[in-house]
Amino acid sequence: MKKRKFLLGAVALGTAAITLVGCSGGGRGGAGGGEESAEGALVGVSMPTQQSERWISDGANVESSLQDLGYEVDLQFANDDIPTQVQQIEAMITSGARALVIAAIDGTTLTDVLQQAADADIPVIAYDRLINGSENVDYYTTFDNYQVGVQQATSLLTGLGVLDADGNDTGATGPFNVELFAGSPDDNNALFFWDGAIDTLQPYIDSGVLVVPSGQTQFEQAAILRWLPETAQERMENLLTVIGDTRLDGVLSPYDGLSIGIISALTSGGYSADDLPVITGQDAEVGSVQSIIAGEQYSTIFKDTRELGERAVTMVDDLLNDKEPEVNDTETYDNGVKVVPSYLLESVIVTADNYQEVLVDSGYYTEDDLQ
Ligand code: BGC
Repeated sequence: MKKRKFLLGAVALGTAAITLVGCSGGGRGGAGGGEESAEGALVGVSMPTQQSERWISDGANVESSLQDLGYEVDLQFANDDIPTQVQQIEAMITSGARALVIAAIDGTTLTDVLQQAADADIPVIAYDRLINGSENVDYYTTFDNYQVGVQQATSLLTGLGVLDADGNDTGATGPFNVELFAGSPDDNNALFFWDGAIDTLQPYIDSGVLVVPSGQTQFEQAAILRWLPETAQERMENLLTVIGDTRLDGVLSPYDGLSIGIISALTSGGYSADDLPVITGQDAEVGSVQSIIAGEQYSTIFKDTRELGERAVTMVDDLLNDKEPEVNDTETYDNGVKVVPSYLLESVIVTADNYQEVLVDSGYYTEDDLQ
């Protein structure tokens, strides 16, 4: 932890929200409302997995906010299994769902089932992860995923002492040894995180301030299918073998679950808990915030799932009441068939210095949750 310069205050680097109202939802916006009343309508909510806290909170937030507005909710988790997710969505359509909120496991596998939804005039909101290759995605709500990657890399550089707390270059020359991890290649977000991170790190790699000892600098080499902690642990173990005696100063990790696997590999590979490299993360999951407080993981990216849930629910409510949902981005998220009108939220870098203010004072966690 010696070299680390802590980042003071939350750095919300998200783009200024430009609010564009009234963009077309592809012709089906409001279709679910039709002539029927929205009151008590059934809404299907399909989440990828319960293996990660964030998706459990996402599911619970969306469900309760919809219920508060009087909707019936069919909330399903698909255990990270694609056929299960498809079946669950089909069942929602069959049981008369009037709108669908979907966080896809693999963004390319829902084309057929979304055609069924379109045939039944059911609007679809892609939740956090873009659904690719289908015209039948009406709206998308997520965080500014490129900025999440920028924030991950920025906190890595801050932890290494290459940037100061204000984001200015300190002139540190390193060289610092870092290894790079990416998320699941079938999750559209993973590439955005990677691009944001690499665009931020590349100048330092080019100038020799950062060195990637394994030479594995391609997304395909760094990607961890399905975001599995055990796969990240295995890759980190292999990297330690490849790089031999070279000591690592930093690891870019795009998700807290992967960071846990990476830390396990490092502590069983000769690093002590108080001399770990600077390790990043994402989602501010309880175990990882505890690890940050204990001085093991360095940073995470907090994405307030309460806000995301609210946004998705407002979109559903608007669609079912024949109102155009509000969006603030109509350019970034091209799913291969169309640019999906999106509402992007901002994320915040969290370290030991600001977790209290960002996570506890905001009521996201209690102090007791983090004990
Ligand atoms: C989400 C991240 C999450 C990851 C793994 C991504 O699609 O945007 O917040 O860490 O999936 O669950």
